[in-house]
Order: sequence, then structure tokens, then C-alpha cells
Amino acid sequence: MIHLNTKELAKPFIKWVGGKGQLLQQLENQLPSDLYNEDFTYVEPFVGGGAMLFFILQHFVNIKRVVINDINRNLTEAYRVIKQKPEGLVYRLKHIEQQYLNITTEDERKNFYLEMRRRFNEEVLSSLDKSAILIFLNRTCFNGLYRENTKGKFNVPFGRYANPTICNEEVIYADSELLNRFDVQILNEDFKDTAKAINKTGLTFFYFDPPYRPLSATSSFNRYVKDDFNDDCQRDLADFCRMLDRKGNVCWMLSNSDCSAKNPLDTFFEDIYEGFDIQRVYASRMVNANASKRGKLTELLIRNYTSKPQKEIIENHYKLAL
Ligand SMILES: C[S@@+](CC[C@H](N)C(=O)[O-])C[C@H]1O[C@@H](n2cnc3c(N)ncnc32)[C@H](O)[C@@H]1O
Repeated sequence: MIHLNTKELAKPFIKWVGGKGQLLQQLENQLPSDLYNEDFTYVEPFVGGGAMLFFILQHFVNIKRVVINDINRNLTEAYRVIKQKPEGLVYRLKHIEQQYLNITTEDERKNFYLEMRRRFNEEVLSSLDKSAILIFLNRTCFNGLYRENTKGKFNVPFGRYANPTICNEEVIYADSELLNRFDVQILNEDFKDTAKAINKTGLTFFYFDPPYRPLSATSSFNRYVKDDFNDDCQRDLADFCRMLDRKGNVCWMLSNSDCSAKNPLDTFFEDIYEGFDIQRVYASRMVNANASKRGKLTELLIRNYTSKPQKEIIENHYKLAL
């Protein structure tokens, strides 16, 4: 295993819709202040690209245990491969990158992409090959989307990029080092199954970033796997959060779309999270394919606590973590 200084290097190895990279600073200001003075267990039930995960792993040393989960099996398999076999993954990705960049015409690149997509969907592949192809498709498909049709097949069209980075070796090794350092446990289940990760004796912090509730029937993307995350799922998640809140030693923070900013009569989240702290943060959403419709929107940040870390506490903490 190659050991690198992972400081600030580790970040999502895959582009993922709803990725929280842009929002990290605002999210950090809303973390529970207890994370800065107690050991804790970190749980992320909808990990996606893991922007928050890699941020937490890089900035806190007082983590006892980490459990991540996502219902997308191809994604969780890629996390396992990054944790256990980063060298094999880098080797394969470099090979694919070389093949792809040697192709000079767009039509031929598109054919190469479609053949990789066919293999990904139809062939029985080792987890290493499958994860390498997943990352390749993610880097070369339209807008870096991951979307499946109703049969569960990846169906994103080819994207036009002159020189995509297909193998980001530094990021893969930095992510791998952190996943091993904290021996991150990787689950591929429904979010409710992460209840088993609660630490019965100490603090557990959950960060939830579920598929967002669409702001309108046509505007949003929330199909990461063949089944939609509909309003009943959002309600189940709110019930799950209430159950966690009753445990007493669990803090949670949850992101979602700000439906009432768009339509003041739509108080869906205010209703299902009544009694919890609801903040608004600014985010530039990149999901809309039409660039003119992308822009600054508010997002909700819902928490079962109200404490915020003081600026000095955060700064001192980082000095210790360095
Ligand atoms: C908004 S994304 C998470 C984005 C992520 N936090 C990031 O930074 O990239 C939502 C994730 O929830 C996953 N998901 C959807 N339904 C789920 C379920 N029932 N249980 C667990 N994960 C689910 C999707 O596969 C997707 O990766």
C-alpha cells in the first residue's frame, strides 16, 4: 500500500449528482459542536460521491467508527475496490485512459464508450473491472451522471470532453488510505439498515443526503437506481430521523431541496420535520442540462440539534488534526 499525505487530497473519486463539494464550508458551520470535543461514530446512509465523508475523515481524528451506505451496488463495490485494491484499479484505469485518449475522432470515442457501457451492463465482470469501467463511464458520459433505466441498466449517453481525466491516481490512493485508516465499513442496503451502526454508549453523528425531492414534476433528477425515492420514502426517512432523535445520543443533519422557497404553499419538509431546526444554505445546482436554468438556489439543512461549533474551536481542532 502506498502511503501519501492525504491532507486535502482525498475527495470524491466519482462525479455524483447532488455532490456536496460546493457546500462543504456551509455544512461544516452547522456540524454539532460535540464533534469537536468527543469521540464519535460517523454514519452516512446515502453516501453517493462522499464529499462529506472525505471531508470528515480528513478533518477529525477523534472518530471511533465509520459506516457508509448506498443502495447503488456498483457504487458501493467501487468504494470496496478503492479500499482494498487501489493498485489494481489504477492499473486498469490507466490502461483504459491510454486506449481512449489514443482515439482521435469523436465518433470512434463514442463507439468505445458505447462498447464499455454494453460490457458494464451485460457482461459478468470482476469487481475491479466493473469499478474501472464505472469510473471511465462517469468521466466520459454526459454531465457525469449516473442514471439507470427501469431494468436497472446504466443508460447515460456519451459526453463530449476533449481531455477527460479518467485515472486520478492521487485521489484514488488518498481515498484508499483514509478508508483503511478508519477501517470504513461499506454497506449496500436501504438507509434504514444503518440503524445498526449506532454506538450504544457514545455519540453517533449521521449525515443524510438523500435523493432530493423534485422542485417540480420535470425539473429534478432523483433516479440514482431504478426505483424512485418518492414522497413516501421521504416520510419514512423523517420517521427514521425521529427514531434516532429519541435515542438521545444521536445527532443528525439532513440536506434536501427547499420546496417552500419555490412554492410557499408546499410545506412538505416543514411538516414532516416539525420540531427540528431548519436552516437554509445557498447551493448552485448543476443538475439542469440547460445552463441558463442553473443558478443559486437555497437548500434545506435540517438538524436535531442547534449547537454550532465556534470558529476558534474549528481552527484549533484543525491544528490538532494536521
Ligand atoms: C444525493 S445522492 C448523495 C450525494 C452525496 N452525498 C454526494 O456528496 O455525492 C443520494 C444517494 O442516495 C442513494 N439512495 C437512493 N435511495 C436509497 C435508499 N433507499 N437507501 C440508501 N441509499 C439510497 C442513491 O444511490 C444516491 O447515491
